[in-house]
Amino acid sequence: MLDIAKIRADFPILNQTVNKKPLVYLDNAATSQKPQVVIDAITTYYETINANIHRGVHTLSQLATEAYEVSRQKIQAHFNVKNSCKIIFTRGTTESINLVASGFSQLLKKGDEVIISHLEHHSNIVPWQLACEKSGATLKVIPMNDKGELLMEAFDTLLSNKTKVVAVNHISNTLGTINPIKEIIDKAHKVGAAVLIDGAQAAPHLKVDVQALDCDFYCVSAHKMYGPTGIGFLYGKEKWLNKLPPYHGGGEMIKTVTFEKTTYADLPHKFEAGTPNIADGIAFGACIDYINTIGVANMAQQENDLLVYATQKLLEIEGLKIYGTATQKASVISFNIEGIHPFDIGSIVDKLGIALRTGHHCTQPIMDFYGIPGTVRASFAFYNTFAEVDSLVAAVKKAQMMLS
Ligand code: ALA
Repeated sequence: MLDIAKIRADFPILNQTVNKKPLVYLDNAATSQKPQVVIDAITTYYETINANIHRGVHTLSQLATEAYEVSRQKIQAHFNVKNSCKIIFTRGTTESINLVASGFSQLLKKGDEVIISHLEHHSNIVPWQLACEKSGATLKVIPMNDKGELLMEAFDTLLSNKTKVVAVNHISNTLGTINPIKEIIDKAHKVGAAVLIDGAQAAPHLKVDVQALDCDFYCVSAHKMYGPTGIGFLYGKEKWLNKLPPYHGGGEMIKTVTFEKTTYADLPHKFEAGTPNIADGIAFGACIDYINTIGVANMAQQENDLLVYATQKLLEIEGLKIYGTATQKASVISFNIEGIHPFDIGSIVDKLGIALRTGHHCTQPIMDFYGIPGTVRASFAFYNTFAEVDSLVAAVKKAQMMLS
């Protein structure tokens, strides 16, 4: 059992009022809050060792380089990355996916196929559309059922030796579905396809082991897992990262440059042009340490308990429908109340101090599937409490009364 009161004291932002009410932060799938140790890591870096990395002979540059690389090693250990694979720092999941899709746009050709799923965030749809437009490859989509689960029999029929890439999320940001990615990876490998997993929502909720999964790419944003915004990573198997062309050109990613030809640096630097986000990269390491002091399994247990309780309480509200009822589900609840626009509910509960997200959640195809313009979404982190769920339910009931 986690001591939630003690944990909440680690997150300074949680202890405040918003619109004169105690803040109830339930928009964790959009971004999570940051513990003091992560905030301190950023300020300490700027106060003590700020310098450019991988370049300077001077002491501060060496200290900054070491701190940044230690952070990479912490990430490597946390996600069980083996030596022959690489962690590339990016701005986040979106940039990681774009890096891979943009590279594949040069490897794919007409007749090739890329498979994504109906559950994808726009950031795992649009980059592949761009890659297919550029290369002449065809985009295929694994359909979903009413519960928000992927139709795996349909995936079987989509797969063929034309399939070159399969790109799916580990957890749906809108419906919370935990996808059977191990099965997807194994089946895709049987036809020789590379598999990219969008792990933005899974990294904060599950212990991810990329070796056990055997995926070719795994993409993560630090800010969803209690780290800073503007930093994330791409995990990739070396054989693929060697095949893909660089994404950005510039300093740091080269071995030699002449006007005739440039040769590229070894991995991971081939994909890390320019001065990186050093402070946030270092703070990402601090956030991994923090998560490990709590334990991902303990965090997941609290989140699952909140999910079960909130689902039961919300369903007691007349006219409330939950979208996404997958058997394997993470702590995200998307819902609507009959006859009321999601935006109106979100605006009223905000006045009561409750932060939710409303809209299509960057998943318009899911909204089209259900024939709705959007949903209200509550997403829970391990620092949320059962009392906060009660506040949410009371606020939604109040909004319903005011809007009916
Ligand atoms: N992808 C983030 C969300 O689901 C922004 O809210």
